[in-house]
Amino acid sequence: MRSIKFETELINKKILLRLDLNVPLESGKITDTTRIDKIIPTLKFLIKKNSKIIILSHIGRPKGKILKELSLKPICLNLENKLQQSVKLLKKNINEINHLDLFKNNDEKIIMLENIRFYDEEEKNDYKFAKHLSSLGDIYVNDAFSCSHRSHASISQITKFLPSYSGLQMEVEMTALRKITSEIKKPITCIIGGSKISTKIDVIKNLISKFDNIIIVGGMANNVIKHMGYEIGKSLHEDNAEKIIEEIFSLSKKGKCNIFFPQDVVVANDKNGVPFQKEIGKISSEEMILDIGEKTIKMIEGIITESKTVFWNGPAGFFENKNFANGSIKIAKKIVDNSKAKKIYSVAGGGDTVSLLNSLNFVNDFDFVSTAGGAFLEYLEGKQLPGITALK
Ligand code: 3PG
Repeated sequence: MRSIKFETELINKKILLRLDLNVPLESGKITDTTRIDKIIPTLKFLIKKNSKIIILSHIGRPKGKILKELSLKPICLNLENKLQQSVKLLKKNINEINHLDLFKNNDEKIIMLENIRFYDEEEKNDYKFAKHLSSLGDIYVNDAFSCSHRSHASISQITKFLPSYSGLQMEVEMTALRKITSEIKKPITCIIGGSKISTKIDVIKNLISKFDNIIIVGGMANNVIKHMGYEIGKSLHEDNAEKIIEEIFSLSKKGKCNIFFPQDVVVANDKNGVPFQKEIGKISSEEMILDIGEKTIKMIEGIITESKTVFWNGPAGFFENKNFANGSIKIAKKIVDNSKAKKIYSVAGGGDTVSLLNSLNFVNDFDFVSTAGGAFLEYLEGKQLPGITALK
């Protein structure tokens, strides 16, 4: 993998720069800018080299549709502010853009194409789409480690057509994760939560052989609770997850990995409703699970105390509403306390987890915080990430 750090041919070149600007938005406002802040050094590095930059990124999962609320506009404005330089958002259909549309005048140095997932071809890893994208630049740079587990056109296919490099933030993430996974101390505990169930539930299966304890919380845990035969009411869950869950439990017995899930929860009638603590088994069909309960928090704190390494990906509840943030906050506090006391090595990953830690001012109290969620977990699984393989 070649890094732009050592590349001498960047001057005056048009760089297609894949970033992960998939930041949380609330009514069009960015609620956490970590992913933007982290790639500023890469942009400054390229600006200094006098490169012309074409930013490619996705936000959310628009599934090939143009959704106004998933425009990159707010991110573009944020970048302009941080760089104190114009960043032009080009809204024209990507398939119709040609090199004449780009850098029309000399002052134009940074262009951002609109959400790449507005195009079906992106997630299909479409050959023609990637070839067309590549025709807009001279060099491709991937500085989106957090998207590199996706075989998408702007991540893997595009590298077939251009000299391709890794960016500065990609290096930071990979160097840290390589070190962590080679110097790991047992017992290892992995806490997995969040709402991106479909992408993570399979991951758990593969982590069983590597870890001593896996604690399932958040939306993911609802599937397990349902699988145990309990009512989960209107809670977030995934259909057809039964087979994977059965496999997870049977593998955990063979692999001597303990699987834990919530014994009690906090429910409400909706995300803005009044919170109630409930044992699992007492949830009604009108309620939804929005956080873990006190008994479960105590159990998790105990497991953290017994561990030497703790990985955390995904909040324990709907932490955006403070009524349902208690479980996530208590987990964060326990990890930070034990980490500061040098009792554990602590690593957190994922957009939502990073937002949560930022809101608590805990980001610098973890040994390492990765901006990646799914990619972070797949790296821990030992999988080859398509975006990384493509760069090699
Ligand atoms: C992330 O948030 O993990 C990355 O932006 C990838 O997003 P995805 O899970 O929608 O592919």
